[in-house]
Amino acid sequence: MKIYRAENYEDMSRKAASIISAQVILKPDCVLGLATGSTPVGAYQQLAAWCREGDLDFSQVKTVNLDEYKGLSPENPQSYRFFMNQNLFSHINISMENTHVPDGLEADSQKACQAYNEIISSMGAIDLQLLGIGHDGHIGFNEPGPAFEQETHCVTLTPLTIEANKRFFEKAGDVPRQAYTMGIKTIMHARKILLVVSGQDKAEILKKAIQGPITPEVPASILQLHQDMTLVADEAALSLFTE
Ligand code: F6R
Repeated sequence: MKIYRAENYEDMSRKAASIISAQVILKPDCVLGLATGSTPVGAYQQLAAWCREGDLDFSQVKTVNLDEYKGLSPENPQSYRFFMNQNLFSHINISMENTHVPDGLEADSQKACQAYNEIISSMGAIDLQLLGIGHDGHIGFNEPGPAFEQETHCVTLTPLTIEANKRFFEKAGDVPRQAYTMGIKTIMHARKILLVVSGQDKAEILKKAIQGPITPEVPASILQLHQDMTLVADEAALSLFTE
């Protein structure tokens, strides 16, 4: 595992954006696996700036996002499709038909998950999968549990995740209770993984995930087994790390 220590959030974002841009430059028709949440926003802004300046070309890039709330439409400002359009896709020269997010409006979970698995396999391997980590160690919406879930599946969000995500909603009661998420097997099949982590509040879970035992009770701990895994984290997030 490569670990890049960043001074702060801005530095972490620039370093992460550099790694993603290297991927796009080396393979202009690459498949990027993308994440939502607060952590990648700075990296997305940096990528958008480089694209605006003509230094980065997304015209052949394809993307697959990790997850989507079940029941939210793409027009809902809290949906992950809306988030991606707002924070990245509308600022870069990507073809919208090359961008993919699970269909939150598909009420039949089995149908939604199967359709998303088919989209992912039709693309071949994900070249680079960007990840954030939840306070309980979730990646995507793969919550702690008795086993590592394999492919796209429907999850019931834990109270901790609902609590963490309510900041994007008017009240906790508005946070959808279920979501569709890419599974651990699909994430682990990505050629490269880039985990971005920022802030003191993530220090404890980051230490558990990277330096603790590999267990489905800390879903991100499986990343220790990935062949090409890069962690970019700021000083605060790495503060409990032992070298
Ligand atoms: C979002 C996702 C989640 C987040 C995680 C951290 O697509 O997959 O696993 O990466 O909840 O979120 P932030 O970055 O908001 O702390």
